[in-house]
Amino acid sequence: MKKYITTPIYYINGAPHIGHAFTTILGDVLKKLEQMRGFDVFYTTGTDEHGQKNQASWQESGMSVEDFLKMRSDNFKNLFDKMDIDYDFFVRTSSKEHKAVVSDALNYIYNKGLVKKKSYEGLYCEGCEQFKKPSDLDERGFCPDHQKAPKLITEENYFFPLEQDRQWLIDYINTHPDWIKPKRFAKEVLGMLAEPLDDLCISRPKSRVWLGVDLPFDNDFVTYIWFDALINYISSIGWKSDGDNTKFNETWANVTHLMAKDILKTHAVYWPIMLKALGVEPPKHLIVHGYWLGEGGIKMSKSLGNVVDPYEVMDLMGIEPLRFYLCNAMSTTGDSQISVDLLKQGYKQLANNIGNLQMRVLKMIAKSLDGKVPANNALDAKDKALLENIANTFERIYKYGDTSLETVSELSDEILKAGDAVNAYFAAEAPWVLAKDESKRDRYEAVIYTTLDALRLIAVAVYPFMPVVSKKILASLGVNADEIKAEFQPCQLPSGNQTVVGDPLFPFIA
Ligand code: MSP
Repeated sequence: MKKYITTPIYYINGAPHIGHAFTTILGDVLKKLEQMRGFDVFYTTGTDEHGQKNQASWQESGMSVEDFLKMRSDNFKNLFDKMDIDYDFFVRTSSKEHKAVVSDALNYIYNKGLVKKKSYEGLYCEGCEQFKKPSDLDERGFCPDHQKAPKLITEENYFFPLEQDRQWLIDYINTHPDWIKPKRFAKEVLGMLAEPLDDLCISRPKSRVWLGVDLPFDNDFVTYIWFDALINYISSIGWKSDGDNTKFNETWANVTHLMAKDILKTHAVYWPIMLKALGVEPPKHLIVHGYWLGEGGIKMSKSLGNVVDPYEVMDLMGIEPLRFYLCNAMSTTGDSQISVDLLKQGYKQLANNIGNLQMRVLKMIAKSLDGKVPANNALDAKDKALLENIANTFERIYKYGDTSLETVSELSDEILKAGDAVNAYFAAEAPWVLAKDESKRDRYEAVIYTTLDALRLIAVAVYPFMPVVSKKILASLGVNADEIKAEFQPCQLPSGNQTVVGDPLFPFIA
């Protein structure tokens, strides 16, 4: 079966930060996890290059529009490449292919009579690129996300009505309890649907915003950025490009959109109603996560000096430990704090847990067993129970865990727990004492085998987060690591394998 995973496409008015890095890493981790389960995965990310915010940021640049958009889009692409993100398609909304699909979609709903023109007065938040209701604002009349008062704007525009589908959407959410995950966000959406929905303004007059896709039925206007941007999810997989849409439908059937809670309404209210008008099923799942906040739980901002720069922390700790840390530390029930100090603590935890274990056991057998994996025929009940517990836990998560942050988060927790359990076992069995007593030879070998086989299981489980580390551990155990599958049978490490003590997996950082 084919699975399709998407990230939001990011605005290019600023540099990518750790939040953008996180959602894109989460998508890559989920892709690798699904591939290990045998699924074929198509993964997309990209940049959202139109609208007033991006236009304003171009105005300060002194560059040609095309060069500016490419330069800013490349900032994201280069970061994702540096992070080894295995995306299958990087969408740019300024590409002619994407723009053509936006035009097709607009024509489609226009020809169905679903678009009307009217004069409109509203409060516009440039940060959100959305009109706001007074009830969306805080007591000062500010947008709570952008801490600014929206501007009062009066203009003629084209509108796409939403209200006619409100009840359908409520029913859809109630009959598809795992559509939006975690569930608390489904409740939030039902709250948004408790009152009648305003028509969605799908155009902007060119006198105000010219950076966008021309409306095919009136070129005094460009398309509203959110209408344009959401279409990326279908333009990236060739909506209407193959006649009867067979290929498109096959990929669309299992799509998961990843996002943070900031863009829930556009994805959970506008998007399914837009898709319904286009005759396309709602996306299979929306996976929503919280925010990364600076230390002390405050929003990251340049002026406070608490912004975490993805390049800086990648240089500090390497991309793989960073991937693991982010997936492990993001709360599944709310927001999470991030700082360079917290990241260092996470790195040290990995080094003390998996890193030390691997180095200690390999050094020990290099000395006493010529580096060869010993026999496994003398394992006692405790040894077997340790391996079975670890194998069964990973097996369960890989087999039954859904495509979600919860699964990834649980898996990362269980990897650390398994590492702790094996470290505790190793300390309690004290193989360095057993090694000195020839009469305890069998016991010594059983403890070493158990530890090595547990490391093998941990190495397989950790692959989606740290593919290079995973392969390094397997190679150090003499295991061929070309293709890593979600198979967790205990005692599968071949006795006699030649192990190799390599460099530390997680070298010391200050
Ligand atoms: N361009 C729109 C999305 C269009 S999708 C059809 C947009 N862009 S954005 O650049 O603002 O990116 C928002 C997304 O970036 C969030 O939903 C989340 O995936 C990620 N994050 C940005 N900042 C974040 C945090 N501080 N914490 C967690 N994720 C964050 O909205």
